[in-house]
Amino acid sequence: MRAVVHDRYGPPEVLRVAEVERPAPKEDEVLVRVHASTVTRGDTMLVRGVEYRFTRLFTGIRRPRQTILGSDFAGRVEDVGAAVTEFRIGDEAFGIEGGANAEYVTARESGVIAQKPTGLTYEEAAAIPDGSLLALTCLRPVYPLRGKSVLVYGAAGSIGTAAVQLLAHHFEAEVTAVCDTKDVELVRSLGARNVLDRFREDFTKNGKTYDVIFDAVGKHSFRHCRRSLKPRGIYITVDLGFMYHVPLVALITRFGSRRAKLGIGRYRRKDLLLIKELVDTGKYRPVIDRRYALDEVVEATRYVGTGQKTGNVVLRVSEAAPGERPEPAAKHEEQVPT
Ligand SMILES: NC(=O)c1ccc[n+]([C@@H]2O[C@H](COP(=O)([O-])OP(=O)(O)OC[C@H]3O[C@@H](n4cnc5c(N)ncnc54)[C@H](OP(=O)(O)O)[C@@H]3O)[C@@H](O)[C@H]2O)c1
Repeated sequence: MRAVVHDRYGPPEVLRVAEVERPAPKEDEVLVRVHASTVTRGDTMLVRGVEYRFTRLFTGIRRPRQTILGSDFAGRVEDVGAAVTEFRIGDEAFGIEGGANAEYVTARESGVIAQKPTGLTYEEAAAIPDGSLLALTCLRPVYPLRGKSVLVYGAAGSIGTAAVQLLAHHFEAEVTAVCDTKDVELVRSLGARNVLDRFREDFTKNGKTYDVIFDAVGKHSFRHCRRSLKPRGIYITVDLGFMYHVPLVALITRFGSRRAKLGIGRYRRKDLLLIKELVDTGKYRPVIDRRYALDEVVEATRYVGTGQKTGNVVLRVSEAAPGERPEPAAKHEEQVPT
């Protein structure tokens, strides 16, 4: 099968599409023919292998341990192990599994895999798991959020667009989103009650305060945001550097009654099922910026590495067979209501 392979750390150019052995499902596994995957910020970090010094302990000290990239997938079940009960050949599935930038991926039935929401194309379904699961699991520790004022900084990114939707439609919070000028209307359409253009208004200086500030791109700091928090307010950041680059900051996670938390994203099957339910009931939708062919993975990775994408970047991995072809891909502009 064809897969995106990286056998050394470096710039996006170290990536190549190569022929590798197709995996076979074990007893409790599902084999999925992947039609769509994504390139995430996490993937760009894995390629570089230099984000934080300690990460190579997990990804491989000298060279990457996992040579096939990608994690989000959407596709058709091609084969199942003998013990699999919930999936059948021909089912449409989506989820998260390492090595998803490949024509086939195997996933444990009990892993982060679910039936694809019927109303979505494979490309749309692939754009859902990573951002939504990270946003959900970063925000959940501060539950309940119903009626609380929450500011999302970096609201147009993969985690940000997911956070705005989950806060507005699942947690039922009152969302203020901060994003770039070009994304204001999109972010408003996702459920934000107030949207601040970060180039026109500095939320840390406008005198407004919030119960929670979620920095979904890890570009601010607790110190900088603390005056925008209400008493007992909580600042959450997704940036691991918050703890790593400035160890002292890890010790100062309180200013008076205001607290800071590092959001640790987790991938869990029961959360994917919740997200699927939200999609099925019209409370969550994928946001796709650009789509690339598998052979354009270097270009896709370069773009994701700019840190300026809106929502998600999809990789078209393999064509669906005639009869199972998804509807024509929706354009990014189509996701902004008129
Ligand atoms: N904690 C965890 O478990 C975990 C897991 C995975 C990833 N992460 C981290 O989460 C972060 C976000 O990931 P993502 O995939 O959502 O990112 P992303 O989609 O690449 O974010 C892109 C968005 O960030 C905005 N942005 C860039 N620089 C900004 C700045 N200085 N101020 C405000 N907004 C800015 C961009 O807006 P413009 O167009 O205006 O530039 C763009 O809309 C990454 O830093 C990643 O390292 C954390």
